[in-house]
Amino acid sequence: MSRPGTFAAIIVAAGRGERSGLAQPKQFAMLAGRPVLRWSVETFARHPDCAQIIVVTQDDAAAQAALAHLAVTYAVGGATRQQSVANGLAALEASAALGGDAPALVLVHDAARPALSAAVIDRLLAVFVDSEVAGAIPALPIADTLARGSAELGETVARDDLWRVQTPQAFRLRALTAAHVGARDSAATDDAQLVRAAGGSVAIVAGDPMLDKVTQPGDLERLERYLAGGAAHGEARTGMGYDVHRLVPGDGVWLGGVLIPHHQSLLGHSDADVAIHAITDALLGAVAAGDIGDHFPPSDPQWAGASSDRFLAHAAMLVTERGFAISHVDCTIICEAPRIGPHRAAMQARVAAIVGIEPGRVGIKATTTEKLGFTGRGEGIAAMAVATVRAIP
Ligand code: CTP
Ligand code: MG
Repeated sequence: MSRPGTFAAIIVAAGRGERSGLAQPKQFAMLAGRPVLRWSVETFARHPDCAQIIVVTQDDAAAQAALAHLAVTYAVGGATRQQSVANGLAALEASAALGGDAPALVLVHDAARPALSAAVIDRLLAVFVDSEVAGAIPALPIADTLARGSAELGETVARDDLWRVQTPQAFRLRALTAAHVGARDSAATDDAQLVRAAGGSVAIVAGDPMLDKVTQPGDLERLERYLAGGAAHGEARTGMGYDVHRLVPGDGVWLGGVLIPHHQSLLGHSDADVAIHAITDALLGAVAAGDIGDHFPPSDPQWAGASSDRFLAHAAMLVTERGFAISHVDCTIICEAPRIGPHRAAMQARVAAIVGIEPGRVGIKATTTEKLGFTGRGEGIAAMAVATVRAIP
């Protein structure tokens, strides 16, 4: 496909999800291992033409937790969806004013549509290559008979020229900005109607049934069956990692991102968190991206004393960039002391937060070596890890 240049993505995630029946806003609910919001943001992050991602939210802390290690800019949500998009556009302008070139195209997407594929984005972008339209949207024809009525059936409605309109919706940035300026405070539920009202033409490309919005109770479960069932995923790959650090007199060891009080510490250039290092190598191995030493050479002074969280976050980002999603990681820590059991839940939570998956997909185990070998003698701690990643088509 010839490409129309780069685009910015605005993901609106500032709604309350009142119709969903969920305890929290639906964009932060867990879906097949990662928050709803994260699914589509990862798809944009992976797209080679996506220059910038703006996430519009009312809850920065929840959004940042959901989007760990993804490079996004945050904008504050508005009272209506339209206002949220307008705030996203303002954030885009502000970052362009700071020196970044604003891309010519912008894609506006509902966070509540997690199962976004690169194919839909490519169909939208293709429209702009040889057409002067102001915008392009994904839409689906209606298969069911349409009828009016309340309790009793009323008249049937012709459906031949009716569409179910989805997002992302792609626009020339100038056209969308002008449409928003001209339509403050309308109750528009999408952006195409604003651009149309401002006189712009909007093309329709094929939508995707999996792109349906999470709106009512039950919608999330349906998507969960699709995504967790693996239908949305391609090839699975596994990586392994192994690391050892020496124990020296000290006052605590970092393991699995948690500082455990102990009469010794682990010696190393960084914080020497063997568990995080092994998991990092497992992720790098799964996507054949070398090892931790290639990315963070111990000879480089900038990593002296560094928190290993950064190494792990970098590996997780490389997994995303190479077109994969992390299914799970599992780590065995090998030592006589300290005891790992009391800290297992904290480690699971910490590792999960760094790589952006749910804690139930992080295995942390420990074993002693019956006082045999260097781990048995308390000279050092070893860790082994495996990680499974799935290709996102
Ligand atoms: N949205 C937004 N700001 C608002 C309202 C909605 O960013 N003030 C976003 C939602 O987070 C969602 C998308 O717009 O990603 C589509 O809106 P909708 O499905 O209506 O989500 P909610 O408003 O959260 O749900 P509900 O209407 O059921 O409360
Ligand atoms: Mg709403």
